[in-house]
Amino acid sequence: MFDIPAFQKRRQSKFGSEIYYFHEIDSTNAFAEQLAREGCPEGTIVIADSQSAGRGRNKNQWHSPPSVNLYFSIVLRPDISCLNRLPFVCGLAIANTLKQQGLLADLKWPNDILINNKKISGVLVQTAVEENALLFAVAGFGLNINATEFPFDLQSSATSMTLETGTMFSRESILAAILFEFETLYQGITLTPWIEFAREVEIHSSYLNGCEVLIQQEGRVLHGITRGLDAQGGLILETENGNLAIYSGDVQACRKK
Ligand code: BTN
Repeated sequence: MFDIPAFQKRRQSKFGSEIYYFHEIDSTNAFAEQLAREGCPEGTIVIADSQSAGRGRNKNQWHSPPSVNLYFSIVLRPDISCLNRLPFVCGLAIANTLKQQGLLADLKWPNDILINNKKISGVLVQTAVEENALLFAVAGFGLNINATEFPFDLQSSATSMTLETGTMFSRESILAAILFEFETLYQGITLTPWIEFAREVEIHSSYLNGCEVLIQQEGRVLHGITRGLDAQGGLILETENGNLAIYSGDVQACRKK
């Protein structure tokens, strides 16, 4: 069971002072969305020990067994102009936290976090927009911490902090560290010029520049060389037919040029 008092003792961020804990829930993102619609304060956290229908990108389900990992969502009310930075801020917060534990993370566009080419964490940002105004955003994080087993279909592609280091971690301390990193980055989200922000993201990603990739989109596969991020957070892909900016899809293969 996730120990809320132990987490609160370690928490240094304002985010997380309002927290909803579930032993099991369908999806922390779904519940956070509901709270956001009811007007909860920014920084409200929903956390679950396990999820029965954890939402992943592309309608995938996020594997969410009890007692081992972190599944949580943060309610945010950013300015709409910051929205393109939000997924990267989430990824950087996780990467910084992993670094404190000696783990070097690679951010795979758009928002997978990899260690040694295996996925350790995923981020799902969901938004509600009305008449060009952003009502709220929910940033959902799944981080594999102490899991040592995965279902067959994930075995070759997923990893955890324990599998990478051979040690166990306190989920409460890791959540406190992520929230501190996230809040610090989020507070400065508008301060850094885009070009510097994009460079910071590129430093943490071996995929974003000079990589030969296949990008799987609904109904087509694109082939090209990555050329960094455009000002909307899209991936610039140099193809035979010129440069394209990609805003959705999965990077399927990668070879450093
Ligand atoms: C991905 O597919 O990589 C994104 C996975 C995001 C999973 C997290 S777990 C906590 C939060 N609640 C959800 O339903 N999904 C996110």
